[in-house]
Amino acid sequence: MDSEITLRVDGAAHPLTVDTRTTLLDALRERLRNTSPKKGCDHGQCGACTVLLDGRRVNSCLVLAVTVDDAEVTTSNGLATGDQPHALHRSFVEHDAFQCGYCTPGQICSAAGMIAEVRAGWPSAVTTDEVDLTDAEIRERMSGNLCRCAAYANIVPAVAAVAADEGVRR
Ligand code: FES
Ligand code: FES
Repeated sequence: MDSEITLRVDGAAHPLTVDTRTTLLDALRERLRNTSPKKGCDHGQCGACTVLLDGRRVNSCLVLAVTVDDAEVTTSNGLATGDQPHALHRSFVEHDAFQCGYCTPGQICSAAGMIAEVRAGWPSAVTTDEVDLTDAEIRERMSGNLCRCAAYANIVPAVAAVAADEGVRR
């Protein structure tokens, strides 16, 4: 069964007719040719497909496109402002926080969503008293984003530097 929806992605509206079984990830990649989110597992296990949905991070392979009609979808590409990269983009480059780069757009969207969660005071499984974005907190909160190149040693400081700049890390 088909359904007519409008996908709002990185600030642009896209009217689409989609099979109701189409995932947001497939709609983005196969229909809109937005290859920023990557397909790793297609089962919600790797985080490569992470995008922001109305500002909250989601695995787009687990979201049906018909359920996000008119919601605001932001990919890693959309975090940039024109030609200006987002602070997380810059930090990942400065900290050499990738090797092949396949997981990177998902890592960056996840980090952006995660910093917003910390700013809102959301605790994680390793939070003790106050919410402070320590390295242990970053590792826990980013644990849904796997890196098959194991660039974690540089991903954590890349995220930590932006978190410190944004005042969510002491
Ligand atoms: S492709 Fe979505 S979590 Fe792996
Ligand atoms: S940089 Fe290769 S998967 Fe993360």
